[in-house]
Amino acid sequence: MSGATTLLGAIADVGADRVRGGYSRHGFDHADAELREWFSSEAAARGLDVHTDRNGNLWAWWGTPGPGAVVTGSHLDSVPGGGAFDGPLGVVSALAAVDTLRATGFRPARPVAVVVFAEEEGGRFGVPCLGSRLLAGTFDVDRARRLRDPDGVTLAEAVRATGLDPAHLGPDPEALSRIGCFVELHVEQGRGLVNLDAPVGLADSILAHGRWRLTFHGEGNHAGATPLTDRRDPMLPAASLVLAARRVAGSVPGARATVGRLVPNPGGTNVIPSTVDVWLDARAPGDGDTRHAVDEIVATARETAEREGCTVTVHEESYTGTVTFDSRLRDELAGVLGGAPALPTGAGHDAGVLADRVPTAMLFVRNPTGVSHAPAEHADADDCEAGVAALARVLAHLAGT
Ligand code: GLV
Ligand code: MN
Ligand code: MN
Ligand code: MN
Repeated sequence: MSGATTLLGAIADVGADRVRGGYSRHGFDHADAELREWFSSEAAARGLDVHTDRNGNLWAWWGTPGPGAVVTGSHLDSVPGGGAFDGPLGVVSALAAVDTLRATGFRPARPVAVVVFAEEEGGRFGVPCLGSRLLAGTFDVDRARRLRDPDGVTLAEAVRATGLDPAHLGPDPEALSRIGCFVELHVEQGRGLVNLDAPVGLADSILAHGRWRLTFHGEGNHAGATPLTDRRDPMLPAASLVLAARRVAGSVPGARATVGRLVPNPGGTNVIPSTVDVWLDARAPGDGDTRHAVDEIVATARETAEREGCTVTVHEESYTGTVTFDSRLRDELAGVLGGAPALPTGAGHDAGVLADRVPTAMLFVRNPTGVSHAPAEHADADDCEAGVAALARVLAHLAGT
């Protein structure tokens, strides 16, 4: 087993979801706390200095923290019922790459840091890449403090429970100014590297993507006693939104639209819901196409709502424009790696948030299933090892003399 797969094995039970399968590890929950403790002790065992920043991101420093640092890492949280690799592979590979470099006697000429970003998936508070967005100052901090999880716990309450002061959440220019460059290693989330027959690649772009919550309001009533003509059933416009998402995305080249979460209130088999919350995830190569697709999907649902005597409110939870990674850094790293292929991705990452602030690159490790955000997500041990070796070479190049 490679160092990376051994380290992944050490956290294999943490946050395992016995009901959904896979892992449910969410920002500032019990599993997350256990993973943070595990990371901190692994980092300390390597002589790295660990600290938590004002937004709950963890930093482990090899050398004195300071400007020009070469930063690598990813996240440890997951989607509900997620795979073992999305996030943790980047964290364990960073630790394993430090081990590899140490074993060769490498001494960095610039500080190196391994970072674990908080709540990357937005699986608990709905906003992805929350830790990196807050650090970079691209998400309103008052809004962040008020975000609620499905149990009604606010982000402010959740971070306070971990010992952080919610008053300190927000832009962190000092942390940002230390990052000379950021390289995130991640399991690939499609079949790009399988098709290219390559174990490791570099990211060139991320689709524009966002999340919208639509609440359809109707009238709660009895499923048996209410004639069809007397109903104001919000499930009908919710259903029309699901179908419109598929139809509209199919008409925009490269677009994807998904409804992965739909909550009727109060949620009884024999109850016409009074409201239905639906979360729309939409992505496309360009910002204009993404916005246009969302507008069309929402317009269809609105029409159905009006026809059914319902109303709808729309709330944008998060949005990230198209990301194009630094082409100079990517070409430089492709050279270091002997010509690793570059490929686009539809998945969002903390690297995408940081990309317009600091030179940023991503390494992808082949995923033979092409499946992600599901338990079937996978990376072979040999490919994980190739990922660690590639990351070690990249860090040596960037942090060397
Ligand atoms: C995060 O992984 C996302 O792209 O949804
Ligand atoms: Mn993910
Ligand atoms: Mn991820
Ligand atoms: Mn992600």
